[in-house]
Amino acid sequence: MDKYCAGPFVGVRGKGTEARAATYEAPPNIALVKYWGMRDRELAVPYNSSLSVTLDRFRSRTRVRFDPDLSEDGVEINRTPAVGGPRDAVVRFLDRVRARSSMTDYASVVSDNNFPTASGLASSASGFAALAGAASRAAGLRLSGRELSRLARFGSGSASRSIFGGFVEWQAGVRADGSDCYARPLYPADHWPGLVDVVVFVEGAPVKEVRSADAMQSSVATSPLYSRRLAEVPRRLTAIHAAIAQRDATRLFPLIMEECDNFREVCESTRPSLDYLTPTSRATLGEVRALNREAGSPIAGYTHDAGAHIHVFTLDRHARRVRSRLARLPGVRSTILVHPGPGGHPVPRPARPTRRGAAPRRRSR
Ligand code: PMV
Repeated sequence: MDKYCAGPFVGVRGKGTEARAATYEAPPNIALVKYWGMRDRELAVPYNSSLSVTLDRFRSRTRVRFDPDLSEDGVEINRTPAVGGPRDAVVRFLDRVRARSSMTDYASVVSDNNFPTASGLASSASGFAALAGAASRAAGLRLSGRELSRLARFGSGSASRSIFGGFVEWQAGVRADGSDCYARPLYPADHWPGLVDVVVFVEGAPVKEVRSADAMQSSVATSPLYSRRLAEVPRRLTAIHAAIAQRDATRLFPLIMEECDNFREVCESTRPSLDYLTPTSRATLGEVRALNREAGSPIAGYTHDAGAHIHVFTLDRHARRVRSRLARLPGVRSTILVHPGPGGHPVPRPARPTRRGAAPRRRSR
């Protein structure tokens, strides 16, 4: 276990049964270099390596309990029973964990997010990272951070990065069996203390109709810009990595905007076209460009995922100005500040009270 994904293991055995449970929490991440397209869908191996920042404040918390008394898997997300596609994706993931372990029981999965699901904040990344951590532990597997990352990518590619905190690269790898395809931490969360992400939540963000995993494959198949993107990404990844290494904001911000613009152009040129933004999202991008023009140098850089909310990176000393300009745009629902944060970790079971409901007893004199 490494310093990027630390914490004690907690499992339980039910009284006299073989039930086993574990809880795991994982944060979302925002990609500065996007993963968009798989060269092997079966193995969940991407065409290009990607690079992200793990975010503090937000998290998915997932409890998995394998129980011999269950007759099927049960999945509850944000207090609502999951059905259809979302449930099937979790059940497929549990099957993968069962196949790797000696566990044969069905499971109950209870997950909640402290941020809106399917809204452009990567709930699939935090959700599947948390599921990978909880299910593998509950099944008795003890996986390293790297192995967890390899497992998590089968739920959602970006989940491979949420295992780790700080600045993370998911390497695409070159091996045919996908064994060198996993994320690795580049720099810890405190590497760049002044860096801040102003998350701009827009009103009326549509709920995603097509899963990213399907949408990206239609970009691979139909976007005339896709092959050029693949040729350009390694150069941008190296440059973005170098800007982070040197904490060079004036180099980083234009590069992440260039990468985001290229990702968006690929989406928009996909047939049928993929348009994740609202008019307010687009106005936010325009406002960031205007702020940089006015400042005479790049003081902020935007990026977004397959969703309408916008992440605007800036430095603490510009954050108040950037945030108040963006918050004033019509259609902006709210803005919040987040920083690079820690990765996924197990959640210890609350300690049992020593005496039922009783306060600690005073020693009699
Ligand atoms: O991990 P998925 O299948 O939800 O796809 C993520 C795709 C993007 O968020 C747009 C890019 C990325 O690298 O996170």
